Amino acid sequence: MSLSREEAKEKIEKLKKEIRFHEYKYYVENAPVISDFEFDKLLKELERLESIYPEFITPDSPTQRIGEQPIEGFESVEHKNPMLSLQNAYSFEELFDFDAKVKKNTGISSVEYVTELKIDGLSIALIYENGILSRGITRGDGKRGDDVTHNVKTIRSIPLRIDDMRRVEVRGEVFLSKEAFEKINREKELKGEPLFANPRNAAAGTMRLLDPKEVARRGLDIFVYYIFINDTEPFDTHYENLKFLKALGFKVNPNSRLNKNINEVINFCKEWEPKREELDYDVDGIVVKVNDINLQKKLGATSKFPKWAIAYKFPPKQVRTRIKDIIVQVGRTGAITPVAVLEPVEVAGSTVSRATLHNEDEIRRKDIRIGDWVWLVKSGDVIPKITGVIKERRTGDEKEFKMPEYCPSCGAKLYKPEGEAIWRCPNVSCPAKLKGSILHFVSRDAMNIEGMGESLVQQLLDKKMLKDIADIYYLDPEKIEKLERMGKKSTENLMREIENSKKNELYRLIYGLGIRLVGEYTAKLLASHFKSLDSLMKVGKEELTEINEIGDKVAESIVVFFKEERNLKVIDKLRKAGLNFYQEEVQTSSDKLQNLQFVFTGELNKYSRSEAKKIVESMGGRVSSSVSKKTDYVVVGKNPGSKFEKAKSLGVKIIDEKEFLKLIGEEK
Ligand code: IVH
Repeated sequence: MSLSREEAKEKIEKLKKEIRFHEYKYYVENAPVISDFEFDKLLKELERLESIYPEFITPDSPTQRIGEQPIEGFESVEHKNPMLSLQNAYSFEELFDFDAKVKKNTGISSVEYVTELKIDGLSIALIYENGILSRGITRGDGKRGDDVTHNVKTIRSIPLRIDDMRRVEVRGEVFLSKEAFEKINREKELKGEPLFANPRNAAAGTMRLLDPKEVARRGLDIFVYYIFINDTEPFDTHYENLKFLKALGFKVNPNSRLNKNINEVINFCKEWEPKREELDYDVDGIVVKVNDINLQKKLGATSKFPKWAIAYKFPPKQVRTRIKDIIVQVGRTGAITPVAVLEPVEVAGSTVSRATLHNEDEIRRKDIRIGDWVWLVKSGDVIPKITGVIKERRTGDEKEFKMPEYCPSCGAKLYKPEGEAIWRCPNVSCPAKLKGSILHFVSRDAMNIEGMGESLVQQLLDKKMLKDIADIYYLDPEKIEKLERMGKKSTENLMREIENSKKNELYRLIYGLGIRLVGEYTAKLLASHFKSLDSLMKVGKEELTEINEIGDKVAESIVVFFKEERNLKVIDKLRKAGLNFYQEEVQTSSDKLQNLQFVFTGELNKYSRSEAKKIVESMGGRVSSSVSKKTDYVVVGKNPGSKFEKAKSLGVKIIDEKEFLKLIGEEK
């Protein structure tokens, strides 16, 4: 079907309207009228037409929510009207005091208040000009915040256009639902990344991402609670302003209420304290606002908060329980964490039977003993935390906790790096660490053994076919072929990959061993310095720290690693399997880039900016952040910035990643 230009334009307008309507139904009202499939079909059709007629793409088109490219950073911008914070009340008495002050300062004997749920997220200002969302700014310090327009546009409950042509500023709270938060953490856990402690941190972390595609995937949401039009509120009461926001198409929390007096406010707080558990987002209190805007103006504000509003904070969910035992857990990286085993208790809607005690020092500081009665809170509604010991309940039978000397999982002697609080297991083959160690060993930047994915490794562990990383080189192809999702062909490929990896450069092996604090870059330094694994194994701390970039902590970690009997056994097995233990001479003559000046722009595939910088410097070159006539090479990666243009205009030599890798001798 081919359309005329005019027809296409009309069709595009019609589609935009339709999609906008369905976005509203789905994301604001939570009441979709068509299926996701039908919705996607509309969006795809719009994308298709816009790609044929790009001149009809407008900034408020639903296709423009997700920017194509990551941004380089956030620009700091000033708030036209400062974004204030709120004073807190922790008891109903403080709410009565607040009410009394309001009455005294306005001379009015009966004051109406609007109560709203206090959403636990981050506040944001949205600016609309000529009906189009032009900017999203974080609160920052209240006076200046970061321009996060790219990210707020991905939030589908935020309209990209409104039917009001004036300068409209809307404020609200961006948050993640508990469900979205748990999904993000599940994914992080799979990747072995540190988890977010609560939905608020996750929302704030998401807002700081540079890639709008990833932001869109995480599913931020918003409730708005404030509107300025040309710098003042459009209606005489806050409650009417909220209704107006809703009429404009914004998502306003449906649980707000207009109260005749402070007693009704207090009832609202009492009602919501237990009820908030039923919501799919975190609420940490109730915001109480004077309804009459003229009264608000009369009351004014301090430099930090308005005098016409207050936040009633819910009491922390604290419960008492008893510590039955203190055990230790071995993490994937070998960190040993003491954990309190508790008499199970209900707190904030879930049963808690364990709480981390972080480390030995923390236990001493809080004087926590086995058998103690303790206070437990769920901080940020997620991680249970012991806040204190109820010493009055001690009977004298409580026992002090002693850190074990040996790893509970493998029996290796634990060690604690100087100046650190955490004990560690030094054994690479410790079963508790093994899966992570193996996945690291075979990963692309280490031994690069393709085909050894997570599910295969798990099967090999379950079948006890891998007890340490060296076992990879002693696998029996006949047994592998019989595993789930494996066949003759894939087994052959895998065996070839394993065989080929024996010839890898030395640094890959050093990195792959998973020595704590030894990343790819340090592994390269060590390989080019010591030339063989055997000399590295014999080296002492002093000799290591003589290398410019190796500090005390890294040196100690290396020495401890090669002292551990179990590691030596694994290395011996690797040697017997025929792995390359030597650095070939050709690589990294460290004056290769002597006196050459580099500038990087855009992303490289293989190295981060700081790794690339270290490499250049280790070869005698320098890296500068701006292009000038003195620049010898501008290295251009994906999505280069303005430096690329500048290099062209100055006639500086421009090279791509491949050429850069050649220069540093990593590609031929
Ligand atoms: S009104 C000048 N209403 O709580 C009035 N704030 O502790 C400023 N918040 O910075 C805020 N829900 O991030 C308001 N319904 C609500 C809110 C709310 C959450 C946040 C907001 C503010 C913080 C103050």
